[in-house]
Amino acid sequence: GLESMITRNLFLFLSQNKFVKGKARKWGPKLGANNLIAGETIDDAMETVRELNAQGLSGTVDHLGEFVYTKEEAEESANYCIRTLDAIAESGVDCNLSLKLTSLGLDVDRNLCRDNMLAILERADQLGGIFVRIDMEDYSHLDATLELLHELRQSYTAVGTAVQSYLYRAEKDVERLKGTNIRLIKGAYKESPEVAYQKQEDVDANYIKIIKRHMENGSYAAVATHDHNVIAEIKKFAEENNIPRDQFEFQMLYGFRTDMQKEIVEEGYKMRIYIPFGEDWYGYYMRRMAERPQNIVFGVRGLLSK
Ligand code: FDA
Repeated sequence: GLESMITRNLFLFLSQNKFVKGKARKWGPKLGANNLIAGETIDDAMETVRELNAQGLSGTVDHLGEFVYTKEEAEESANYCIRTLDAIAESGVDCNLSLKLTSLGLDVDRNLCRDNMLAILERADQLGGIFVRIDMEDYSHLDATLELLHELRQSYTAVGTAVQSYLYRAEKDVERLKGTNIRLIKGAYKESPEVAYQKQEDVDANYIKIIKRHMENGSYAAVATHDHNVIAEIKKFAEENNIPRDQFEFQMLYGFRTDMQKEIVEEGYKMRIYIPFGEDWYGYYMRRMAERPQNIVFGVRGLLSK
């Protein structure tokens, strides 16, 4: 409705507002950001993964970054990924790495981005095959991402990406990515009707369809959603079609539906939590708020408890 549209636009505005952003570092804990973000340092992230692991939850950590404009920034970001991989190996946690190609220089120079990815995957491989997930960004980066993934998979197998069900072409992409560990999602960006379903029911129907397709293909599926209806349907589908439980996992964002995260683990399914961390948490936090203003309750709780 109108109210949620206003709230959404407010948070989208805030996510880009430089003044508020400048103050945000100080306000963060009071805003409740620490309920959705694991902290600012690699150590903070590892501590959070350890806590989640102790509850039977697996992790995937994502170092939050703002836009990268130069070769130096892209390389710095790649080095940070490598240091994060080292920390994962050192602390012995059950954890993957998630990253974004634009932060490794996809818009600066594709060869630079490829070289950065190769360095990251080489280290992940040396450390025993830590899985690296390439988050899917907006439509303008889709083809470049799939092309690069294809190239990387000639040398490394512990790498995958994500497919967004709001795109008309999602089913074709899933078919093309048969045999790859894919995260299946509804999609988080605003895309045009030329390429993407606009109605929630169409996105949802296509979501169920592509998850089932990928599982039927015998491929590993990471079902990343907070949607209880989808989760219930996929559990039933796996049961009825004898899809082994080590051929799929559920994923949720850190701090979202924590009761359901626990429930899913208790039922014996694999559940992985996406854990963002880093100094640049502000944009991520405001975008999550824009998506789901109900999360404001986190902020209020944060204010009351601190
Ligand atoms: P959606 O938001 O459609 O919610 C469906 C229903 O579930 C709601 O109507 C409500 O009933 C219930 N619900 C949802 N959230 C709830 C909550 N917090 N509390 C109570 N009920 C709730 N996107 C992208 O473009 N590229 C990517 O790489 C990724 N990666 C990614 C990883 C992981 C682990 C997750 C969970 C998500 C992503 N996404 C993403 C984001 C994804 O595309 C999508 O935008 C969000 O997950 C929101 O859609 P959902 O499927 O969660 O359900």
